[in-house]
Amino acid sequence: MTNATLTKAAPTTESLTTASPMKAKAKEIDYKPDVKKSARASSSLGADSNKPVTVKMGVYDLDLYYKDFQALNKINLEFPENQVTALIGPSGCGKSTLLKSLNRMNDLIEGCRIEGEITLDGADARKTIDVNSLRRRVGMVFQQPNPFPMSVYDNIAFGPRTHGIKSRSDLDEVVERSLRDAAIWDELKDRLKKNALGLSGGQQQRLCIARALAVRPEVLLMDEATSALDPISTAKIEELVGELKTRYTVIMVTHNMLQALRVSDKTAFFLLGEMVETGVTDDIFTNPQDSRTADYVAGRFG
Ligand SMILES: Nc1ncnc2c1ncn2[C@@H]1O[C@H](COP(=O)(O)OP(=O)(O)O)[C@@H](O)[C@H]1O
Ligand SMILES: [Mg+2]
Repeated sequence: MTNATLTKAAPTTESLTTASPMKAKAKEIDYKPDVKKSARASSSLGADSNKPVTVKMGVYDLDLYYKDFQALNKINLEFPENQVTALIGPSGCGKSTLLKSLNRMNDLIEGCRIEGEITLDGADARKTIDVNSLRRRVGMVFQQPNPFPMSVYDNIAFGPRTHGIKSRSDLDEVVERSLRDAAIWDELKDRLKKNALGLSGGQQQRLCIARALAVRPEVLLMDEATSALDPISTAKIEELVGELKTRYTVIMVTHNMLQALRVSDKTAFFLLGEMVETGVTDDIFTNPQDSRTADYVAGRFG
């Protein structure tokens, strides 16, 4: 991601300062999905069935075209709040495309056209939520760690600064909180002035997670965020995701099925632009209803 796209993706001053009231307000909304939508999702929601489940984001009858190529076909999927949802499927099936449509990164692609509905806290994410506000509330971490060529501190402070936080003590606080949340404060607290490009790959990726958390998002999108990392760094990030879900909603694309099984509460299996099956992760892996899902999770293709 370039600085230019981060600027686009980063929050407005207004959205940053009103973040907490907005969130509080959104939570008050008694989300009542219509019968059609909830019937589809109810069986797959709720890792713990005693806990009420709130739909944080939803995708309804979503079609996505790159010029005349249809990359997503009538996708219906709900992402429960404070859970981890994994998107799995062979390369080219549309996982990244769906992830990017959740914070409108596809808006930047010429010829990309979307039909259907995407919601955040029940509000239409494409029509009623300002794009800057959406991208602050729905942050993203990519496959390749992409720290900016600047200090650790400045990487984290970049988004908040762009949106008007100037006081040194406020920025210090954001930097420490974000690095702590990304489980990398202890490793980096004495290296805040060092160039982020000098960190290991695993540290760079946790730094990028910290940078995404610095603007206090509500949803974190992760696109194969550990596939370029060694097993120890991968394990650290998996553990971190388990902690983050208590405060965030996480949606992750992974080609690593064991990772989906370890980390996610809900899994959705995609094939050729369609969502074949979704449900509680354990069910998808142990008792898939569709033979194509069964073949994929058994490693018979992909
Ligand atoms: N910017 C683009 N322009 C045209 N086609 C694209 C673009 N991005 C992705 N595609 C196509 O859309 C399909 C889904 O791609 P993608 O979402 O990247 O799949 P995945 O992440 O599951 O590997 C593929 O056929 C890919 O070639
Ligand atoms: Mg992809």
